[in-house]
Amino acid sequence: MSGAAGVRIVKGPGEPFAAGIEVPGDKSLSHRALILSAMAAGTSSVNRLATGRDVAATLHVIRQLGVEIDEDRVISPGIDGWRSPGDPLDCANSGTTMRLLAGALSGSLVPATLVGDEFLMRRPMRRLVEPLTALGASVELSPDGTAPVTITGRAPTHPADVDIPMPSAQVRSAFSLGALRAEGESTVASPPGFRDHTERWLEAMGLGKREDTTTFRIYPGAVPAYRYVISGDPSSAAFLWASAAIVAGARVVTPNVSLNPGRLGFLEVLEAMGATVEGEVTGAVLGDPIGTVSVTGAGLRATTVSGTLSAATIDELPLVAVVASYAEGVTRVVDAGELRAKESDRIDSTVSLINALGGGAQEYQDGFEVLGLGWLEGGRVDSAGDHRIAMAAAVAATAATNPITIVGAEAAAVSWPRFYEALEALWSSR
Ligand code: S3P
Repeated sequence: MSGAAGVRIVKGPGEPFAAGIEVPGDKSLSHRALILSAMAAGTSSVNRLATGRDVAATLHVIRQLGVEIDEDRVISPGIDGWRSPGDPLDCANSGTTMRLLAGALSGSLVPATLVGDEFLMRRPMRRLVEPLTALGASVELSPDGTAPVTITGRAPTHPADVDIPMPSAQVRSAFSLGALRAEGESTVASPPGFRDHTERWLEAMGLGKREDTTTFRIYPGAVPAYRYVISGDPSSAAFLWASAAIVAGARVVTPNVSLNPGRLGFLEVLEAMGATVEGEVTGAVLGDPIGTVSVTGAGLRATTVSGTLSAATIDELPLVAVVASYAEGVTRVVDAGELRAKESDRIDSTVSLINALGGGAQEYQDGFEVLGLGWLEGGRVDSAGDHRIAMAAAVAATAATNPITIVGAEAAAVSWPRFYEALEALWSSR
């Protein structure tokens, strides 16, 4: 791989490879560990924190609230001791930082305004309003429903029972963090397919209980200081899994990744397409399973991704399009309208990615279809400032006829700064 800053030219190996690779700590879990540590009075520690810019944004924002970070230690006065930030809290590109923090702030007496980069400032925040106002917080947005998000919280919050219309872990988590500060028990429900990391952790801390597959009850209480160990990020490992799936006989083994059921949709999709997928649970952190996953490539066939599976594959759907291009037949992804609300409009950016590389993709209102020809030609792709699009483009190079030029390749640093090096190491191992 080579190229000037921001532009990367990627040429795949075109032959099988095999390696074991430990991916960096999970982004979703890292945000949660930092925010819960900031809410807890005392010293927590967070081991194996995600290395990307999104989690750096959460670190920055909790510092603005008066939390001290010393290597892996998080020293906090607790949510009641948070100090008023002089400036708006800058969440950079990170939607999880903005939405989870908004939830935590709704149960604090520190009024704050949350802002982000040009991409985050375009993402929908109206979904926070109903759940957080049910808790008694005031939530102000710009007229088009985007950030700046100004939260004036209260302590205690009102208990509430809310039903969220989309399977969003971010909105569920935001509500739960605010509901921890309520005068009584609250519940949150939504359609299934969301990652339930927050809920498993709160349950393990005695701060909640799962009522059924979609409803979680929050018991109010103080978050304890804790020693978190972050599992590897399955959404990062997914790029390596996809690359192996494309080449018959290629194999990758990823130990210590989160095996939360809301993160495993992509493995189900790869299996349905004909790849060999093996998983073994090796432990759990606060009730959230971790384990080893291996993926071996094979001749692939098309599949359909819909309903709960689309929700549980949400961050990996650009990769589904890439893998589908190397399969035979028409792959359809539906019930995935949420893709339009990600770091880019990921229906549009995914379809553009495939078509720019000589594949055949078409948009639906709530997803896309990809005509699998068994190959991609290569070409030039714009990341649209979206880390997952830049990284999916690099994976597309695995078996492409010609090199792939990625414009805006540096976006990968949002979740995995050393991604291209890791992919290259995978490709060169036999
Ligand atoms: C996340 C939840 C998902 C996911 C995002 C991270 C989280 O978003 O797409 O990358 O950490 O809670 P939604 O809550 O919008 O579904």
